[in-house]
Amino acid sequence: MSFIVAIDGPAGAGKGTVTEEVSKKLNLINIGSGSAYRAIALETINRNIKLEETEKIIKILDEIDIEFGMKNNKDIVYLNGKDVTERIRQKDVSNIVSQVSSIKEVRFKLNEIFRKCAQGKNIIMEGRDIGTYVFPNADVKIYLDATPEERAKRRYKQNKEKGIKMTYEEILENIKMRDKNDMEKEIGALKQAEDAIYIDSTEMSIEEEVKKVMEVIENEKNS
Ligand code: DC
Repeated sequence: MSFIVAIDGPAGAGKGTVTEEVSKKLNLINIGSGSAYRAIALETINRNIKLEETEKIIKILDEIDIEFGMKNNKDIVYLNGKDVTERIRQKDVSNIVSQVSSIKEVRFKLNEIFRKCAQGKNIIMEGRDIGTYVFPNADVKIYLDATPEERAKRRYKQNKEKGIKMTYEEILENIKMRDKNDMEKEIGALKQAEDAIYIDSTEMSIEEEVKKVMEVIENEKNS
């Protein structure tokens, strides 16, 4: 038996931070689907592959190893054994990740990996199509949203703390471009599952978001 919490929503809605917090509080395994797509985008860059060379990008999946771990109580992503947690948040990766994630073979293969990771476990997973496509029978589904301006503001602050240099305008433009790409994707498009609980976090602090998400999970568990 496994227990699955699916959290979907657009870039910068707080999904990553909230999921990390909730996973610790409820002892759920956190599988970051966006990080997996980012790792493939990074490998695309590392191998100097152009976005048009989809066959080469698809092949990457058979040749790399993506793992999720914990270090100092933080979620870590490993690409071929190397910690790439910070690297995959850089501008060059952010700029191409949406296109990489639009390749349907990449999605199929990653979804297979995600489902295998979840077998028999209690997990929380955030992304774009977790409640609609990857785990349509998830026990709890949440759609976390906020305005593009608020999301850009949050990413700007986050990047600054991490030493990532991007202006607010660059981030807002990147977020709007990604929203469009994510929503218009042929497969795995970002949309709210019919049975997902909608949370607008525009006016909420991260603490309030975590509290709200925990409440929803508790309510759904008991219903
Ligand atoms: O959540 P994030 O910003 O790290 O996601 C990076 C990209 O990956 C984003 O542009 C959309 C894509 N993605 C996806 O297509 N499906 C998912 N389940 C998660 C992320």
